[in-house]
Amino acid sequence: MQSNKRIAILSGGGDCPGTNAAIRAITKKAILEDGIEVIGITDGFDGLLHNRFRTLHYDDVSGIMTQGGTILGTSNIANPYKLSVKQGDKMEFEDASPTVIANIRKMNIDCLVCIGGDGTLDIANRFFHDGIPLVGVPKTIDNDLPGTDITFGFDTAVTIATEGIDRLHSTAQSHHRVMIVEVMGRNAGWIALYSGVAGGADIILVPEIPYDLDVIVERVKERNRKGKRFSIIVVAEGAKPKGGSVIVQRVVKEASDPVRLGGVGIILGSQIEDITGIETRTVVMGHLQRGGTPTPFDRILATRLGTKTVEMIENKSFGCMAAAKGSSIIAVPLAEVAGGLRVVQSDDPLVQSARSISTCFGD
Ligand code: F6P
Repeated sequence: MQSNKRIAILSGGGDCPGTNAAIRAITKKAILEDGIEVIGITDGFDGLLHNRFRTLHYDDVSGIMTQGGTILGTSNIANPYKLSVKQGDKMEFEDASPTVIANIRKMNIDCLVCIGGDGTLDIANRFFHDGIPLVGVPKTIDNDLPGTDITFGFDTAVTIATEGIDRLHSTAQSHHRVMIVEVMGRNAGWIALYSGVAGGADIILVPEIPYDLDVIVERVKERNRKGKRFSIIVVAEGAKPKGGSVIVQRVVKEASDPVRLGGVGIILGSQIEDITGIETRTVVMGHLQRGGTPTPFDRILATRLGTKTVEMIENKSFGCMAAAKGSSIIAVPLAEVAGGLRVVQSDDPLVQSARSISTCFGD
């Protein structure tokens, strides 16, 4: 069956396990059920800016379910509304959206599918308001998007981080050390909370609950007094002390959202070691959390979101994002997602549950 419809797919922002499963689901359903021609944009919005794309055939997406990353490539610096251009030694930003809009129009597509997290979906929402028919697919390991209960990539990241914590337990126990595991999460501590609880961490530090070093130190000492001569601390990269600020690892000048966090675990480690005299080591999980094959949960979620996306295209539910709500997948307006963040609330049931079994949140 061949319709005269064409759609294009792009993936933007940090890579995330499950993205290929979503690309596969969208492409297969579009081709098989509706005879839609599918175009894959290379490297997110950068590909739209420079007209880099290719047709995705059924065979191109067959067998990619288990692959990490994205077969389309991605970029977390290409924001067409705030594009970096080098002027001599200086970096300036310009609005390249008119070029991108003209390029999209030339592609003659019925819909643009944007798979991404907060940054990508904010940009998508702006293009929708500038007249581009599009739909969004939520994707981030951080699980911090409003409008959806969960995003694919999160379960995989939690699984990898938990495995890391499990493996560090033996070193902590054998050497009577404090082991700190730094995980991703700039504004939202979901990965730290879930992997910390799953890994049986003694202390979990999230951006939403600023910590008090004295409380952490006291917990470590108390464990030692009780004969537990090791402690496991899981800290989100965006965690900060009360009245203090986050630790910036690098500034990516070309990015419209330039700050990259990292390093809080190392600083905390030397502070705890200095005060307690207990050897303290830090492991930064970093990009390991985003790599490799997605968990079955993420593959299923990405497949369901992908097939819903094609349904939304058929129904012309443009300006919306496929979202997980309870056991359903529904369409939610991008306007409800753009610019927002879903963070851990201090009364989150999992925070309460962890506190009730004496997990310390550093407050
Ligand atoms: O948004 C996902 C995320 O993994 C964040 O948790 C992290 O701060 C950021 O991306 C790092 O991205 P990169 O190092 O690839 O620029």
